[in-house]
Amino acid sequence: MNVKLVNQPLASIDADLTLEFITPQQLLRHPQKEILLMAGFKAEEEQICALHEQRLLVCGINNLSDELFRTTMAKAIKLVMEYSYNSLKLLQYGDNHFKALIEGVILGSHRLNAYKSEPKPSQLTEVIFSNEEINGLDLDTTKLEKTLTQTLIISKATNFVRDLVNQTPYDMTPQGMAITAEDIANSNHLECTILDVNGLMDEKMEAMMAVGRASINPPRLIHLSYKPKNPKKVITLVGKGLTYDSGGLSLKAAASMVTMKMDKAGGCAVMGIIKAVSELGLDIEVHAFVGAVENMIGGNAYKPDDILRAKNGKTIEVRNTDAEGRLVLADVLGYAQEKIKSDYIFDYATLTGACMVALGPYTTGVMGHNEELKQSWLTAAQDSGEYCGNLPFNRHLKKLIKSEIADICNVSSKPYGGAITAALFLDNFIDENMKDKWVHFDIAGSAYTESAWDVHTYGGTGAGVRMTLEWLLKLQQGLQ
Ligand code: BES
Ligand code: ZN
Ligand code: ZN
Repeated sequence: MNVKLVNQPLASIDADLTLEFITPQQLLRHPQKEILLMAGFKAEEEQICALHEQRLLVCGINNLSDELFRTTMAKAIKLVMEYSYNSLKLLQYGDNHFKALIEGVILGSHRLNAYKSEPKPSQLTEVIFSNEEINGLDLDTTKLEKTLTQTLIISKATNFVRDLVNQTPYDMTPQGMAITAEDIANSNHLECTILDVNGLMDEKMEAMMAVGRASINPPRLIHLSYKPKNPKKVITLVGKGLTYDSGGLSLKAAASMVTMKMDKAGGCAVMGIIKAVSELGLDIEVHAFVGAVENMIGGNAYKPDDILRAKNGKTIEVRNTDAEGRLVLADVLGYAQEKIKSDYIFDYATLTGACMVALGPYTTGVMGHNEELKQSWLTAAQDSGEYCGNLPFNRHLKKLIKSEIADICNVSSKPYGGAITAALFLDNFIDENMKDKWVHFDIAGSAYTESAWDVHTYGGTGAGVRMTLEWLLKLQQGLQ
């Protein structure tokens, strides 16, 4: 989809269809009021009415929030893509809703076509924004241009991550993740290092190797770096990249196994983020680490009762092979901190079903020791259109992952607070000097959906991408 900004009044722009947002009050003064009312249109939230003779698409919006502009735009784009129009034009609404509208266009126009033998064609190729504002406000065109460029990069990176997550476990193996990383590195001038099993062995990453041992698709550790000259800060991102999570010997039930191709979403997110960071040309050094592994069963599978030694020397009692993400992250966090001294370390993982129980299926769980840092993330998430919720640590929960036989156990002794105890497990692999610089994001609920919500339809959502780029843009501006 070609999205452009034109410095012309809306009326002088040539396009097949005009899109308008109107509130219930504006409806009463609308020139097409009679026909719209006749069609049952009341300008209610996300209500859309097409007046084809007038080449007009009217979208209801009952408050002027970014969230409604974004979701309504996404819904409208989906509808227009079903028609035969080639181009669509619209005005600006206020001086700060442009970003939400562009996001609506790019995220709303994303389609799940890769595995269809006959992908649905769409005639719509162009969305044209005028710089004219609905109430005649004089807008700064340079600022609009910048918003357009940045938002296109971020939204397209989100779609890129969605496409990666949606790939089948057959197509996207750990080696597939490594090849994807190399492709990103080549097209974005990034450095890329890949460790295979021998490399993992040399690095003493026994926990990650154990998880991948029963798979015919051996694990890979990916390290992508973006290194601008004189960076303001150095950031490390770590992603859980389970290309499939069968549960291992603690096998998942049939119904819970379906969708577990999405267990790589954290790894895909950090790859999409670093791609966007380089396209945005940020003055921040970013390192993305992915533990790409397949958790399978077999004669050589790791077992409940095994004790693993992680890279930082701590021993882990395995009581459930389905709590594999934390084992992979334990080693990748250890490796990342050893290789790169950074100002912050953030990890992204579809880690626990418990996170969905705690926060619902749309919200990313935010965990860590630094309240102020977590708050900055909650704000960035809100500004980006993603949902995040704080899940607080406490010293009692910490005791639930004690082990009688090893340093720590990979599951909690109690069935409650599983998202937090998983994060407290990861805490054991965060170096002392990084405790206050670390945030863990549990994207188990937010990374994938089987029913439409917000700007998402079916499949990967790209969770983590928009909020992280929002946070990094604020850091770049010295606001963080
Ligand atoms: N990948 C899953 C978590 C998950 C569940 C993500 C549902 C998305 C949707 C993770 O590896 C897992 O299986 N976690 C277990 C942990 C338990 C064994 C302590 C869980 O959540 O049940
Ligand atoms: Zn699992
Ligand atoms: Zn998993």
